[in-house]
Amino acid sequence: MEPKILVTGGGGQLGSVLIPALRKAYGTHSVLATDIRPLDESFGWSSTLDVLNFDMICDLIEREGINQIYHLAAILSAKGEENPTFTWKVNMDGLLNILEASKKMGIDKIFYPSTIAVFGSSTPKVDTPQDTILNPETVYGISKAAGENWCKYYHDRFGLDIRSVRYPGLISYESLPGGGTTDYAVDIFHEALKSEHFTCFLKSDTRLPMMYMPDAVRATVELMSAPKESIKSRTSYNLEAMSFTPAEIYEEIRKHVPNLTISYEPDFRELIARTWVETVDDSSARKDWGWKEAFDLPRMVEDMLYHLKQ
Ligand code: SER
Repeated sequence: MEPKILVTGGGGQLGSVLIPALRKAYGTHSVLATDIRPLDESFGWSSTLDVLNFDMICDLIEREGINQIYHLAAILSAKGEENPTFTWKVNMDGLLNILEASKKMGIDKIFYPSTIAVFGSSTPKVDTPQDTILNPETVYGISKAAGENWCKYYHDRFGLDIRSVRYPGLISYESLPGGGTTDYAVDIFHEALKSEHFTCFLKSDTRLPMMYMPDAVRATVELMSAPKESIKSRTSYNLEAMSFTPAEIYEEIRKHVPNLTISYEPDFRELIARTWVETVDDSSARKDWGWKEAFDLPRMVEDMLYHLKQ
């Protein structure tokens, strides 16, 4: 069957890059971009959609003949702490509406992004195993950890084909992140080219797993097109491409922008980052559906600066 894909949260950091990639893979008219706010014309075929409105989701699925959903709408880690109960509502009720609507309307395939925020202080920090202790300490992380388990539940109990990866921090020249703890790794590029000074909200040695957007998009498309039998993890796959500290990315950017200076003013996001892990073991993703990254830190930095200068 021809895919007819609905993307929620389409205007976000991931959606605005993933949507064109999905259209390239499956055809311009096969992807409906949705968001809580109206999307501008550059998004092409789009509609507003509030994921808290179950009837609206079902109506849209029916009217547009949707058979796949990429459920990206969520409030991220740092922003989520401003209003924990609202974050829980958007992230959790939003997912349950998508799952229930998918069950009711017979959706073929669903993509659900999870995150390194599902890990917590007592998770092993280096080479974090696929199946490990999840004790998230942000409401975003709690909602994603619960969400992963709901996905497995709907797969096991109702046979829904839901697939998920735990994205590291995502770095893109095409879109800006909003309200995450890993956002510094995008901000530093913009400041490097604008003011040649960056004030970092994490400490110099706080190491986090990260990924360049082209890798994240490719991982998503590859996961979703893998044969059903090869998907062995129905919670969410660990995924890794690179891992660095603010001091390390600063040094790498300075090879291209020698006058760049940095200072450190750690805030509450440092406390969040400290509960996450440094590197993850993604051998299951590599084995089950052939994941392999293309960008390490030097290649990513070079490519980011090249594109941002255009
Ligand atoms: N980039 C996200 C955040 O920082 C992690 O998934 O919240």
